[in-house]
Amino acid sequence: MRYYQNVSDLGDLQVALREALEVKAHRYDYQHLGKNKTCLLIFFNNSLRTRLSTQKAAQNLGMNTIVLDVNAGAWKLETQRSVVMDGDKAEHLLEAIPVMGCYADIIGVRSFARFESKKDDYEEMILSQFIKYSGKPVFSMECATGHPLQAFADIITIEEHKDVARPKVVMTWAPHPGRLPQAVPNSFAQFAVAAGYEVVVTHPHGYELDPRFTAGATIEYDQMKAFEGADFVYAKNWAAYADPYYGQNLEKVAVAGGKVGPKGFPALELPELGLYEEDWRSWTVGSRQMAVTRDAHFMHCLPVRRNMIVTDDVIEGPRSLVIPEAANREISAETVIKRILESECQ
Ligand code: CP
Repeated sequence: MRYYQNVSDLGDLQVALREALEVKAHRYDYQHLGKNKTCLLIFFNNSLRTRLSTQKAAQNLGMNTIVLDVNAGAWKLETQRSVVMDGDKAEHLLEAIPVMGCYADIIGVRSFARFESKKDDYEEMILSQFIKYSGKPVFSMECATGHPLQAFADIITIEEHKDVARPKVVMTWAPHPGRLPQAVPNSFAQFAVAAGYEVVVTHPHGYELDPRFTAGATIEYDQMKAFEGADFVYAKNWAAYADPYYGQNLEKVAVAGGKVGPKGFPALELPELGLYEEDWRSWTVGSRQMAVTRDAHFMHCLPVRRNMIVTDDVIEGPRSLVIPEAANREISAETVIKRILESECQ
């Protein structure tokens, strides 16, 4: 494996899951692979889990690690071609990337969707330039359209906790004051389908994800119906994907519109999306929804906005898996970097 962007890069997911569990049991047994090799981790955005777990994973494998926060200490980078660089950006990505490649054996990149151009985001404008110009193996640490290290960790966690062969896994949209990328839900849906689970995605009208990522999942607009009999509930906020509202928080669009619908909620007329009005805040995951599940485990990638995404009692409850998911980020990263070392760096 030279590049890691999505589930298909792992090949057979069941084989990868078995390997991950082996790595978890023997995480320091592969130090010979990374000796005198350097893993460079580039962050265009903030991180707690990815920053710590990926460094730990590379160090478990005997690698040196270098972490660069592009927006704190490096020159400001221009990312677009054909720009006259007379502003505050001192260096172009097209020089910076090959320079970074000189100091690294493997490069990890975190670069969120910017919501300025759907085309740039969904063509992975930043990550693809690292793949093209660094000359080194590259893996995503969450980019515009996917978070494959998180999704791999989530599936490892489900495998460790499931009590039926084919669990019902429900991914639900939940409210948030901001506008978040679709990377986590895209990858989670794709990995959960690839794992062979019964996957249901539930969200208000207007929050449909790119169907390339949800293929194989059932879309259910009634959240309570979706939750019935669930074994795992995965909550996440994401901004709208559909045009003309790409990258927007529809609740904020509705409130700004100033209209109130017949049920008393802010109205947003998107008849082409089946949307007129929505009680957005009712989507916060709490005991009301969890009561109709099969005593489901609660999952979230973190960081989480409590009492927006999920109530305190659910996230603190005995079925919450948010900490085991975070712990498995070390394992998903180690498994991916191990595979890259084995195939590209020996
Ligand atoms: N889940 C996740 O990627 O967390 P960070 O943004 O803190 O890295």
